[in-house]
Amino acid sequence: MQSDDVTRPIEILSVLGVEEQQSLRAIVEHTNWSLANYDRLEDASAAMREREPSVVVCADRIETFYTWKDVLATLSKIKNPPQLVVSSRHPDDAMWSEILNYGAFDLLQTPYEWQEVIYSVSAASRRRIAAENEPTRTGAPIGSNPPGAIELVECESLDEQHRLEFRLSEQLRKAILSGSSNGLWVSEILDQLMTFSVVHFTTEETLMVRQGYPHIAAHRAQHDSARSRLAMLDTRFREGDRRAAFEILDFLDSFTREHIPTADRDLAAFLRNTARVETPAAYNAPAPKRANERAASPGASVTNIAVKLSARK
Ligand SMILES: [Fe+2]
Ligand SMILES: [Fe+2]
Repeated sequence: MQSDDVTRPIEILSVLGVEEQQSLRAIVEHTNWSLANYDRLEDASAAMREREPSVVVCADRIETFYTWKDVLATLSKIKNPPQLVVSSRHPDDAMWSEILNYGAFDLLQTPYEWQEVIYSVSAASRRRIAAENEPTRTGAPIGSNPPGAIELVECESLDEQHRLEFRLSEQLRKAILSGSSNGLWVSEILDQLMTFSVVHFTTEETLMVRQGYPHIAAHRAQHDSARSRLAMLDTRFREGDRRAAFEILDFLDSFTREHIPTADRDLAAFLRNTARVETPAAYNAPAPKRANERAASPGASVTNIAVKLSARK
């Protein structure tokens, strides 16, 4: 956890039941954050537009009729929307994946663990700031995104590799566009890009195996498909088909646009949660009294659904 997590002001808007609301307030009281809670989605929706909070924490079900997906639908209409953290008493594997794939930031299990609330809300706030300063890809033409325009997954090592991969793609585009006299330059950068892509996939797969990631087969299948396609295009380029370099850029652009915000984001969330459980000291923060009592019972620790799921395998 970054040292300024509890001192940097963060405005939270919550749509929670009474018990969760009180629990969250007890944690927020020990920080510089502010919290406004709404019982009804209609009121919360209006406040989301007026107050422009950084983070919204909502229950998985609201007023019997609504779910977190309705909250997400409301947020999707807001420019630079707050990040959504969903709170659930009974989260499971399917909910975890669904929440991330729909675009929410994290899932917290109730009763809350103060460390997990601090971590999740802080990371969500950082992500919102990054989204504001570093817009994600939004259907721009291939290679036209500004440097650094890559979806962040909030896992430092993966984000760094994605950035490097993106920079290499940009260099390749520039090399191609600079003219045919630079064939050797294009070839060298393509070499680096192909090698790095393979290294990156291997890095992720090594982490998945080491940490017992439950969705490894599906994730690796996507990597396998990309590896095959890239190898085929690379062979075509080496055989003299210069168009293959463009197709590599095209493929990498669409692959990363699809893969990073879904598969890699799910993996990153799992790795974050694994780290939370395995190295709790890394997430130390001044403990609020009430929440601190709960921290003594690791059995109740919670957001790490993925760890529990992998244990079931
Ligand atoms: Fe991946
Ligand atoms: Fe990746």
